[in-house]
Amino acid sequence: MTTVQADVMDKTAVSDSDIVLSVENFSVHYATPKGDVIAVNDVSFNLHRGELLGLIGESGCGKTTTAMAILRLVRPPGQIVNGRVSIDGVDVTALDGEALRKARWQKMALIPQGAMNSLNPLMRIKDQIADGIQTHEGRIPKAELKDRILKLFTDVGLPSRIYDMYPHELSGGMKQRVCIAMGIALNPPLIIADEPTSALDVIVQRIVAQTILDIRERLGVSMIIIGHDMGLMAQLVDRIAVMYAGNMVEIAPVDSAYEEPLHPYTQLLIESIPSIKERKPLKLTEGLTHDLRNPPPGCIFQFRCPHVMDVCKKVRPQMKEYKPNHLAACHLYEESVE
Ligand SMILES: Nc1ncnc2c1ncn2[C@@H]1O[C@H](COP(=O)(O)OP(=O)(O)OP(=O)(O)O)[C@@H](O)[C@H]1O
Ligand code: SF4
Ligand SMILES: [Mg+2]
Repeated sequence: MTTVQADVMDKTAVSDSDIVLSVENFSVHYATPKGDVIAVNDVSFNLHRGELLGLIGESGCGKTTTAMAILRLVRPPGQIVNGRVSIDGVDVTALDGEALRKARWQKMALIPQGAMNSLNPLMRIKDQIADGIQTHEGRIPKAELKDRILKLFTDVGLPSRIYDMYPHELSGGMKQRVCIAMGIALNPPLIIADEPTSALDVIVQRIVAQTILDIRERLGVSMIIIGHDMGLMAQLVDRIAVMYAGNMVEIAPVDSAYEEPLHPYTQLLIESIPSIKERKPLKLTEGLTHDLRNPPPGCIFQFRCPHVMDVCKKVRPQMKEYKPNHLAACHLYEESVE
């Protein structure tokens, strides 16, 4: 297979104004007494206007750290050690203080992992949402605020009767949709939802996924959805980005990624999607992820890869575009490697 375009960025035929988020050579470390944990290593990708991008990978691969660092919310011992993040053309890695605070609420929203469990149990839903809006926009007349909150409920498919309710009176799916409502309340162009469907049963997962699709349709927001469920992601997002041990290993339109995954790790993830029609043996990747404080030279997947070659132990594969808009970091597809 030939390289269509050897470049770390996933450039597609779009103008700069179509790109909401640009992440370039992003690295985040956590300092520990035994050395730095390399949680995100030289990651680059773009998010297009109105696009849903699924960020997927096993536990501990750096999904939450990537999300938090994009929003500059990583706290010590975490530190962004390299790279640049632009949202709507604004370099957020260069901002500080008030400018950063303003950019954060105007340009992006995070629905954190486990958000629905962090709703304040002592506050009515209406007050929690009103607080979020008024913290950033100042006092708003009561009637206007109520209209706005009820409109948010409609956007996320919640009934108006929850306006006066407390979190414990809501189901898990409803609480998760309240968190999505809080995310879209200030109309940011970019929303990152960290595992919005985890800890919900399958039916409710589908409802929350449909809510995400509806708000994309209605509001045209761009979203990064973090998750584990490859099956659900296939139905939800436009492109998937696969991370392994802090590295981006593949990024591709969803059809291309599922029909012809290139990276051996993505292939294993897709082969692991359970099917009711066909009972297949569980596919396991043998070996453990290396210690993130001490990554091996060469490919980070070498200890678990069924196709490992000599070159994989010496040379780190770069993200390259092997099919239109389909990038992977794997020596298998290179014509020759020095
Ligand atoms: N405060 C910290 N100090 C040291 N290491 C940390 C810290 N926070 C996270 N890490 C490490 O960074 C790596 C990435 O963690 P992160 O939470 O981003 O993973 P994740 O992909 O979101 O996992 P999950 O799917 O379980 O939510 C992990 O190996 C984790 O152990
Ligand atoms: S570069 Fe080598 S070890 Fe890494 S995924 Fe490709 S074939 Fe496997
Ligand atoms: Mg996480």
